[in-house]
Amino acid sequence: MPAPEIALTERFQSAFVAAFGPEYADADPIIRPSQFADFQCNAAMGLAKRLGRKPRDIAAEILAAVDLEDVAETPEIAGPGFLNIRLRTDWVAAQAAELAEDEALGVPVPEHVDTVVIDYSAPNVAKEMHVGHLRTTVVGDAIARTLEKLGHTVVRQNHIGDWGTPFGMLIEHLLDVGEDSDEAGLLTTDPNAFYQAARAKFDADPEATGFAARARARVATLQSGDAESLRIWTDLVGMSKEYFHRIYDLLDVTLTDDDLAGESTYNADLETVCAELEAAGLARISDGALCVFPQGFTGRDEQPLPLIVRKSDGGYGYATTDLAAVRRRVRELGADRIAYVVGTSQELHLSMVAETAREAGWLPEDVEATHVKIGSVLGEDGKILRTRSGASLRLAALLEEAVAKARTVIDELRPDLPEDERAQIARAIGIGGVKYADLSTAHDSDYTFDLDRMLALTGNTAPYLQYAVARIRSIGRRAEAQGVTAAAVPLVENAAERALALQLLQYGPVLAQVGAAYEPHRLAAYLFSLAQAFTAFYDASPILKESDEGVRAGRLALARLTERVLVEGLDALGVTAPQQM
Ligand code: ARG
Repeated sequence: MPAPEIALTERFQSAFVAAFGPEYADADPIIRPSQFADFQCNAAMGLAKRLGRKPRDIAAEILAAVDLEDVAETPEIAGPGFLNIRLRTDWVAAQAAELAEDEALGVPVPEHVDTVVIDYSAPNVAKEMHVGHLRTTVVGDAIARTLEKLGHTVVRQNHIGDWGTPFGMLIEHLLDVGEDSDEAGLLTTDPNAFYQAARAKFDADPEATGFAARARARVATLQSGDAESLRIWTDLVGMSKEYFHRIYDLLDVTLTDDDLAGESTYNADLETVCAELEAAGLARISDGALCVFPQGFTGRDEQPLPLIVRKSDGGYGYATTDLAAVRRRVRELGADRIAYVVGTSQELHLSMVAETAREAGWLPEDVEATHVKIGSVLGEDGKILRTRSGASLRLAALLEEAVAKARTVIDELRPDLPEDERAQIARAIGIGGVKYADLSTAHDSDYTFDLDRMLALTGNTAPYLQYAVARIRSIGRRAEAQGVTAAAVPLVENAAERALALQLLQYGPVLAQVGAAYEPHRLAAYLFSLAQAFTAFYDASPILKESDEGVRAGRLALARLTERVLVEGLDALGVTAPQQM
């Protein structure tokens, strides 16, 4: 496999065995990219401690034992015992040739194919998806795409909020306006407006004599399984689904109706969940409510913190549903790993749920559950992004604005292109720009929503990467017109070609790391440096202007390989690269 770190690791581990004995076979050579060479081996310090000897002596012994002849120049010892490694250019070229042949672009075949359940997006029915949902949607989708490219089995779970007390009010409002009315139609276009109207009627009846009383009664009939209430509820949820999927289509997100597993999915399991917790001695009544006190959670005065699984009125809540969900994800969906792509604010809730599920035996030790914490999207004032009226910003409006703004960018850049093509490119840049801004930021950091920055053609942005791809594609088109074909093997000779090839070889390892740690921003950072390496290469090494036929064809092959990696990497992030820009 063509990743330098892997080849170097193998060579160094053999050297450890030769120099220090078989018990050192698995010692980590700590191969890292270095600014002083291509890579550094940082193992001498740790090994010296383990062997009780001087790091520099250990470094010298490693050096004497390691066989890197075909891979690298003789390493140099630096500082306390670092080994600076400069790869042989012919070795890099051979690896690049292998990469060009490889359909998978160096992405390793997993040792074990994991079933990974990814809980993401999860908007609430009859409410506008807000910018926070945009982020869990976009990050979750990138993680899903990445894991699939890595050969794992991904089960998407869209845990939508489709159950609970607001539905009494929503159903009554729907009955008031009529299920076929324009008002009801709002559910598919502007659900927040529908919700607000219902809410206003509810709030206008503080004594609960009219609408509010009906709403409360409706919650009870709905939860008791009344057929007519369920029918209207299904209708309401159906209209919301239509709305979600329009947003998903606009965002080019892979979620479908099959991935929906809303809170209501677990209604039939909730009683059993409580019964099992009680039988296991994990739950007890406290202040009338059935509570679990998972280990390791204390509140003020070191009092154990309760997780309420059944309220004193007999109703079940968010925690019970989540417990039922873990149980089903492990038992029925066969999860080896579960990733919750959910806002940071839900950290306590999710960790209490996970601990409870572990204690109940629903989440075995060998099933990993991770909260991929999602930070907030801020406005220019540094506060959570909202419209001037204070309502959370309509996601659809935001995306439309992004596409409109991208349109002005492309109109300026390529006035020569036909209208429909510019519209298509504007969509790719606008949506890609917004998604990429999310993805290039560490998922748990907050960031400021700034369309100008997101759509800039320079810096770590989608348009910069999309432009790099478009540039290579334009070279490809011109080459074809001139009858120039790419060589089978990319040319790796001069410094810029070499630097670009080294970047290309990192794609597989980076993707694997992103899939293991759920960190799409590392893939974004990688693609950005790859695009920069391409720019440097193209500045230094002309392709079509090159007179030597072999060099021209070899550089074209290197550019084509770069295009493949960029397009594939952007696809893992869910960003499309237009044919031209
Ligand atoms: N619907 C919730 C919200 O909007 C997010 C659900 C996250 N997933 C979960 N399993 N709790 O905040």
